[in-house]
Amino acid sequence: MAKAKKAGYFCKECGFESPKWLGQCPACKEWNTFVEEPAASNKSSSGSSMRSLKGRAEPKRLKEIDSAAEARLSSGIGELDRVLGGGIVPGSLVLVGGDPGIGKSTLLLQVCRNLAAQKEKVLYISGEESLRQIKLRAERLGEFSDDLSLLCETDLGSIRETMEEQKPRIAVIDSIQTMYDEEIASAPGSVSQVRESTNVLMQIAKGLGIMIFIVGHVTKEGSVAGPRVLEHMVDTVLYFEGDRFASYRILRAVKNRFGSTNEIGVFEMKQDGLSEVKNPSEYMLDGKPTGTSGSVVTCAMEGTRPLLVEVQALVCRSNFGLPRRTAVGTDFNRVNLLMAVLEKKAGLHLSESDAYVNIAGGIRMNEPAIDLGIVLAVVSSFRDVVIPDSMLAFGEVGLSGEVRSVSMAGQRVAEAKKLGFTTIILPAVCKRAVGKPDGVQLIFVSWVSEAIRAVLAGVPMMT
Ligand code: TYD
Ligand code: MG
Repeated sequence: MAKAKKAGYFCKECGFESPKWLGQCPACKEWNTFVEEPAASNKSSSGSSMRSLKGRAEPKRLKEIDSAAEARLSSGIGELDRVLGGGIVPGSLVLVGGDPGIGKSTLLLQVCRNLAAQKEKVLYISGEESLRQIKLRAERLGEFSDDLSLLCETDLGSIRETMEEQKPRIAVIDSIQTMYDEEIASAPGSVSQVRESTNVLMQIAKGLGIMIFIVGHVTKEGSVAGPRVLEHMVDTVLYFEGDRFASYRILRAVKNRFGSTNEIGVFEMKQDGLSEVKNPSEYMLDGKPTGTSGSVVTCAMEGTRPLLVEVQALVCRSNFGLPRRTAVGTDFNRVNLLMAVLEKKAGLHLSESDAYVNIAGGIRMNEPAIDLGIVLAVVSSFRDVVIPDSMLAFGEVGLSGEVRSVSMAGQRVAEAKKLGFTTIILPAVCKRAVGKPDGVQLIFVSWVSEAIRAVLAGVPMMT
């Protein structure tokens, strides 16, 4: 091992480097994340190994560069292709992050299986599980073709040699926190190891044109560096989210050099691996209670896809001077703000009530278009009025109590119609955008109070 250079301190969350220990990281504002490690070697910054693979690089004119060679490869999983921006780009380095046990290894093994079935040469490198354990997992997923090779290795030097020798089309590194480069003195999983290992993998991906998927665990304890440390180095960053107790998983792109970052992929964890959820709205609304107050369906956009979700609210009298407010799945401050708007602009005396707002299904939604859904759910619970199951509401709510325009109103209405909703409350400014679809009653509103009146029609006003 090379001699360690002068020690430095690194934030294990984001990789921020400091000459002395700090209680709070100035970059990511996390507390108690600094660990002492040898300073990063110069090797990484000089890029010398990149040159050793490719020779001296010559500048090229833009029009001389052949972009057709970048034809994407389908992973065989539609939801993953969508998040990647239409398939895997050759020579790209993709980070798949997420909590342990969320299904990263399962997803990537399924990708390997699909690609191997298409006669692509695939190499799955694991530093976490033995070959036997991977085989056992693979058996749960179904038939595998012969073109898939497995390797249990954590030394990057040998991984590099194997890759140069075998030249696979796709490789998976599971996980980056178990890999080490002999030239770095610190332990696997430390900030400098993780960075240096990613650097080596980047050179392999770009130099040999191999598509590499890197698994990165999100860790909260110990001195193991998190995937955020390598976010800036890779081409694409995907995060696997989801409630460990619910069976569905959401794959979200946080960074993508080859596509948009607002698409999501929805999966369900089953006995035989992850399966795609083709119609997430239906899935999200599964189990919605009928005939109870405090439940409203709204529509948010996830990328280019509308997603219907149920907003639940529970408003009850506060027993303390200071009412309690909680928001699960959406922004707490936004909920407080909307309740203040209701108090001032719609005359609802909410200041003596506790309020709990929840986006059902464990999904996180921050799009302002769900505002009207939150407002109506709160009103419905406060007045104990049932909002009909066939009714859906969306629209952004402003501080003056106005209902503001949202993007892609037409798609939202179409999705609601597809799922059987017959009454839709939406911003009046979206009138032109939605046209006159048949089979649904559209209630256009300009003010929150109009929307409230529409749902409370027939119920005597009292506040
Ligand atoms: P895994 O892919 O090992 O998670 P990660 O690599 O992100 O740590 O997923 C492990 C979980 O998935 C585990 O709790 C068992 C479950 N699982 C299934 O439910 N069905 C399956 O077919 C497989 C392979 C795993
Ligand atoms: Mg794993």
